[in-house]
Amino acid sequence: MSTVLAAPPAHPDAQALPFAAPSVEAELNYLAPGTVRPVNYTFEPPAGIPWSSGTLDPRRVTIHNARPLAQNGGISLDKQGFQHVAHASALHDFSDEAQIRDVYLPEAEALLRTITGAAKVVIFDHTLRDSARGSRANAALREPVRRVHNDQTFVSGPRRVRDHLDADEAAQRLQRRFAIINLWRPLNEVEQLPLALCDARSIAPDDLVPTDLVYRDKTGETYSFLANARHRWFYFPRLRADEVLLLKIYDSREEGTARFTAHTAFDDPHTPDDAAPRRSIELRALVFWD
Ligand code: OGA
Ligand code: FE
Repeated sequence: MSTVLAAPPAHPDAQALPFAAPSVEAELNYLAPGTVRPVNYTFEPPAGIPWSSGTLDPRRVTIHNARPLAQNGGISLDKQGFQHVAHASALHDFSDEAQIRDVYLPEAEALLRTITGAAKVVIFDHTLRDSARGSRANAALREPVRRVHNDQTFVSGPRRVRDHLDADEAAQRLQRRFAIINLWRPLNEVEQLPLALCDARSIAPDDLVPTDLVYRDKTGETYSFLANARHRWFYFPRLRADEVLLLKIYDSREEGTARFTAHTAFDDPHTPDDAAPRRSIELRALVFWD
């Protein structure tokens, strides 16, 4: 087995909070029922149009510490729809876009191949976030997202294949299994606004609300989520830069696997007053099996 799949070494503070707590209680922002098709903008919307339409429905939920389960190998992309992997990047300075392109993305592609056993991996976007300096108006440095969502839908998932492969290859690859995976890495240890991840098996079809994501040149589709008390939430306390999360955001396979999940940043009650800003990089990749 590849070393990248090994459990990460125990954190020096493994006996202390928040590691030792089995769960935290926190508020997550769902979508309130009644919004037929919410719209989110990725750039400053025209005058009079909100950045995000639809009413939020904040709900207090229990978010389980996923570390004990992950340590026992109990968490996987195909079961819960997310996974945790120990992996240090060769890149340390994520302020240089050229180095991200030349060092980080090829490394991430290799990691995704190893973990999934895929024959081909196509990374189609990446996003840097900073809770102190980022903003939703800045495509080069965004802020964390405090809304429960999934990045693709049953409509926009297959569309990504046609967007990023030439027509012949797309037609051929669409015949076989493919997935879209988000690889999420903190750039420093997460002290605030960690990512909450929903067990795919606890999501019901009625929870999903297709949502427009408006780019300058096209409109994508994501899922917003209605509250559902059955949702089972997890997080990895104080995730470090040498650990990554993988999120299944689409799978063409219809049976026996998680087809997508849901995620959101949340205000963590364990956050210290002097917490460092949350800085992270995520990328989305098409993953094709032969
Ligand atoms: C993502 C995402 C939000 C965040 O990686 O798709 O929604 O706060 N991230 O990091
Ligand atoms: Fe997302």
